[in-house]
Amino acid sequence: MTGKCVWFEGIPFPSLDYSPELLREVQESFLIKDEDVLLLTFPKSGMNWLMETVCLIHSKGDPKWIQSVPIWEGSPWVELSGYNLLKDKEGPRFITSHLFVQLFPRSFFKSKAKMIYLIRNPRDVLVSGYFFWRSAKFVKRPQSLEQYFEWFVEGNVVFGSWFDHARGWMSMRDKENFLILSYEEMKWDTRSTVEKICQFLGKKLEPEELNSVLKNNSFQVMKENNMSNFSLLKGQYLEENGLLLRKGVTGDWKNYFTVAQAEIFDKLFQEKMADLPQELFAWE
Ligand code: A3P
Repeated sequence: MTGKCVWFEGIPFPSLDYSPELLREVQESFLIKDEDVLLLTFPKSGMNWLMETVCLIHSKGDPKWIQSVPIWEGSPWVELSGYNLLKDKEGPRFITSHLFVQLFPRSFFKSKAKMIYLIRNPRDVLVSGYFFWRSAKFVKRPQSLEQYFEWFVEGNVVFGSWFDHARGWMSMRDKENFLILSYEEMKWDTRSTVEKICQFLGKKLEPEELNSVLKNNSFQVMKENNMSNFSLLKGQYLEENGLLLRKGVTGDWKNYFTVAQAEIFDKLFQEKMADLPQELFAWE
């Protein structure tokens, strides 16, 4: 998978958007402002869902802002790799990133900018990633789930090891400007999660505005919207069968892992994450 990647500090990045020079400059020189809003995930954890949700909160449920794919002109979101677009942007910026904590702009750690980290059961991240990357044109594609499983547990996928990524960001968990949410809580109780995000961002919604957020950030509505379902990326970045909104459920890994794979994964999870508070990983 990392065949078409560039490497920086031991981590593979898609060469489509990243270069070692850009990553170094972002880390050392990019100035995060106190009023910026940042979303951070390991790829395939629900980033686009969270982007849509935060947009809808800001527009008070009006779907006019549903233009989430950060490469579209007019999208409120910019990936940190679009550093040049962000540098001169006035006012609060809406920034998304998959970077590891140790590679993030140093200025963030001294700022009051608010960051939401969305975590998802890594088993589902793996399955979602397999189906997505096998239709992507800008990485070496996995040929089978078995092969992707091996790559994932070795950390040999774009953006590297899920375990190191999550561990690194969990070290921020007690900071006031850092909110950890899980895909699972967002799925099981979307209303409470949206309320939590509103509180964190200091936004207030009337009941009908909240209902409109919940309607427009639903899987079905996002799947049918060309501005959020990635259909416009087909051709250049994705094959025709490529889907962003595939199933949108929790626990899909149970339909794909063999018993042996589930055991290997459990063991690895124990080895890597046992010393962290286990309530951070409440996805069963
Ligand atoms: P699946 O492949 O398991 O369906 P990302 O945006 O980080 O690439 O994550 C993609 C995953 O988020 C996909 O998971 C996708 O279906 C899911 N997703 C996107 N929008 C969603 C929504 N409104 N509700 C539930 N899941 C959503």
